[in-house]
Amino acid sequence: MTAPRILVLRGGTPCRGAVRTPGEKSISHRSVLLGALAEGQSVIHGLSDGADVAASVAAVEAMGAGVERRADGTLAIQGGREVLHQPQGPIDCGNSGTSMRLLAGMVAGFGWETELIGDASLSVRPMDRVAEPLSLMGATVNGTGERCLPPIRVKGGGLRGIDWTSRVASAQVKSAILLAGLSADGPTVVRESVTTRTHTEEMLVEAGVDLTVEAWGDGRIVSLRPSTVRPVERSVPGDPSASAFFVVAGCVVAGSRIDVERVYGGRARLGFVTVLERMGAQITVSPGVPGDTVTITSTFGPLRGTAVEAAEIPSLDEIPALAVAAAVAEGTTVFRDVGELRVKEIDRLDAVAHMVTAFGARAVIDGDTLSIIGVGHGAYLHGARFDSLGDHRMAMAAAVAGLAAASGAHSLITGFDAVDTSYPAFADHLRALVQSASPLDMPRALVVAIDGPAGAGKSTLSSALADHLGVDRLDTGAMYRSVAALALRRGVAPEDRDAVAGLAAEAVIEVGHRVAIDGIDVTDEIRTPEVGQAVSVVAANPEVRIQLVERQRDWARDHGGGVIEGRDIGTEVFPDAAVKVYLTASAEERARRRHDESPDGVARRDRIDSTRAASPLRVAEDAHLLDTTGRSVHDVVQEVLSWL
Ligand code: DC
Repeated sequence: MTAPRILVLRGGTPCRGAVRTPGEKSISHRSVLLGALAEGQSVIHGLSDGADVAASVAAVEAMGAGVERRADGTLAIQGGREVLHQPQGPIDCGNSGTSMRLLAGMVAGFGWETELIGDASLSVRPMDRVAEPLSLMGATVNGTGERCLPPIRVKGGGLRGIDWTSRVASAQVKSAILLAGLSADGPTVVRESVTTRTHTEEMLVEAGVDLTVEAWGDGRIVSLRPSTVRPVERSVPGDPSASAFFVVAGCVVAGSRIDVERVYGGRARLGFVTVLERMGAQITVSPGVPGDTVTITSTFGPLRGTAVEAAEIPSLDEIPALAVAAAVAEGTTVFRDVGELRVKEIDRLDAVAHMVTAFGARAVIDGDTLSIIGVGHGAYLHGARFDSLGDHRMAMAAAVAGLAAASGAHSLITGFDAVDTSYPAFADHLRALVQSASPLDMPRALVVAIDGPAGAGKSTLSSALADHLGVDRLDTGAMYRSVAALALRRGVAPEDRDAVAGLAAEAVIEVGHRVAIDGIDVTDEIRTPEVGQAVSVVAANPEVRIQLVERQRDWARDHGGGVIEGRDIGTEVFPDAAVKVYLTASAEERARRRHDESPDGVARRDRIDSTRAASPLRVAEDAHLLDTTGRSVHDVVQEVLSWL
């Protein structure tokens, strides 16, 4: 499942209902790694379906763990020391720092060498904090430069236990050491002066590992003895950081009330709830079933500014969501000591300031302090255009801001597919909440429909527009041309309705930079005069149209929308397209552009296309008319963008 690249939202639509967010990421990663280490079959329900956790799953698969993905999203892992072996090639951790650090600790326990690689952003994140303790335990860890940048190579086995005092508060480093300690020759001790996320310890105990914890000032001492890991069946609770977007949406979108169910209930992870309560938000946290999960209910109401200390929001992951609450609040919200935001997936400090400004609030960055001056009671955010810059949390925060904007104000979020990192179904879940209030105002993937006669400039405009928006383009004319070409190849008369419809039903047509029918490249063939002659007759065949329209709709669903050109896109195929353009140009200019086709041929084609019974070429009621005669491509693209 992948998210749309562009999300269009309309402000002022209440969100109502219940939602469950994907499995908590830290628990998901650890469930997968412990599942691989456990002797037997572990079963994990509700695992995070984001790309980061998928990287951990792929890693243990590469090491020989048996992974079974069930239809309901449950994952069964068959693991154990005898099952695991050296992976055949490097293990790709993608964008996931958690995967790389935890895996480094895990593979250090085995006598083979493993190479761990990552994407461009992970490749500049230092691994020295794990390399140092693992080396002390006897593993060899090599990366680039002093800070041990990825790719890293870990040669493990024959480890000794160590007594390690953490210099930086990091649950990942602690976890890497503990995972390595499972196969050391004696006890391993990790002392942390500040308590970091405790999932690893808790889950190790649950898996039967000999592990004890004692208090140590503000922190703790974790002691582990080499043990066998037992398989467990576990339900991963919902991710609090992902839940924060819905909790804030409930608070800021007029008329909303949202229940976020089955959220991981560790208080340390719910600091954002305390902040929202201080802002005056109407929130209740009720214990969920089973055990340590909660339901968080938020209801729309006035908010006021507050001061937020970084320590309240571990990892600062909920700051983008809280920034949206600050943007609508009365007065100023100050986020102190949030300089760490600069070294997240992107410079998130700058991105957050940019986002709230785009939506009409004000932001000031002063050193490591971010102040947001909200629009206040009785005022609304604007609709805005915002690019996620590839950051999943910025994409989700902007979506919430878009819904909180004034009634009817449209917002457009590009790079929205960044949410795939942690929450591929975010837009679907948002849509479900919005839909239950009013089916008309649901956010939808963007379709730009470009219709018009031959030579009006559709292909040039749609290519340029798609490039500009970073979305895909579909030339539906090439699909009709492909069917016509196939008919000619097979000696089927274009007028033979049933035979041509049969061909259309069976043919596999691929339309991209190149066009292929049943795997054979026909990019040039479909532009020949013979095909030009036959295509209008083929396109007037209602059976053919039904087949191709269905494929065009599938294409848009699979691509999360895009720029689609043809004759009936705004009228028939996508009547609810975000923007419809009907292109024209003077007869002379169109004839000149179609120099490869005789003027009579073009005129004949236009006549058939506009007078046929099935979906003739016509202007949709809500289409923008655009005459491209004598205008530059740049100019025309800018005009269409202004309508978005
Ligand atoms: O865009 P084009 O000139 O390559 O299209 C070739 C023919 O296909 C055109 O004459 C009419 C038909 N067509 C159609 O009927 N409906 C569409 N959506 C696209 C093209």
